[in-house]
Amino acid sequence: MTCTDHFAYFLETPDAEQKITQIINCNTLSVTQMTRLVLPGMVDRGTGLIINISSEMGVRPHPLVALYSATKIFVTYFSRCLHAEYKSMGITVQCVAPLMVSTNMTHNMQVNCLVKSASAFAYEAVNTVGHSSYTSGCLSHALQSAALSLLLPDWLRMSSFLIRVLKSLPNTKTCWRKASQRKERFTVTKE
Ligand SMILES: NC(=O)c1ccc[n+]([C@@H]2O[C@H](COP(=O)([O-])OP(=O)(O)OC[C@H]3O[C@@H](n4cnc5c(N)ncnc54)[C@H](OP(=O)(O)O)[C@@H]3O)[C@@H](O)[C@H]2O)c1
Repeated sequence: MTCTDHFAYFLETPDAEQKITQIINCNTLSVTQMTRLVLPGMVDRGTGLIINISSEMGVRPHPLVALYSATKIFVTYFSRCLHAEYKSMGITVQCVAPLMVSTNMTHNMQVNCLVKSASAFAYEAVNTVGHSSYTSGCLSHALQSAALSLLLPDWLRMSSFLIRVLKSLPNTKTCWRKASQRKERFTVTKE
């Protein structure tokens, strides 16, 4: 769950009082409480698999999505620490940190070489189970993550300059809606 559809300062969160609680509950509290519920049975059985979905935004700090980024680093650290604690008891806790996947959250944006469809992403991600306890989930996202760490080092990502640039970008929801409208018009014209 995210705060807004566009890059925004923390104080620009709409309905902030309610939204902040919702984001923390949905992204972190639910993960922790669900783990408390399922882990004891796994320990008893001496086997188990937990897959937690973090985000590339939870790999490094991302200004303008501060709360989302902070909740996702919680998921990353919580999962990695649990894996270290419980792997000797036969339990795998895998943390998946994707980039862009076409889902409701991303307004079903068009799939391309950077954006995976949900089914293609899930297929690749599931195949990483048993090979990696911390993964981007698919090859394309692993390459993008590596490229981002080179092209957007901390000093640049956290700079006022980049914050100004990101703030000037149009609302992503509007962009995606316009892109899909253009695609629909193109399809109608062709017919
Ligand atoms: N899509 C991406 O590009 C992307 C990238 C990185 C990480 N992720 C992470 O992947 C996970 C799944 O997201 P998704 O992309 O599959 O998005 P999605 O299709 O929108 O699914 C989000 C899920 O969260 C539930 N949810 C949202 N707000 C909630 C709330 N306040 N209380 C309870 N449940 C709530 C939704 O329930 P309803 O179906 O009832 O609305 C839905 O099941 C999320 O943790 C997201 O942060 C996604």
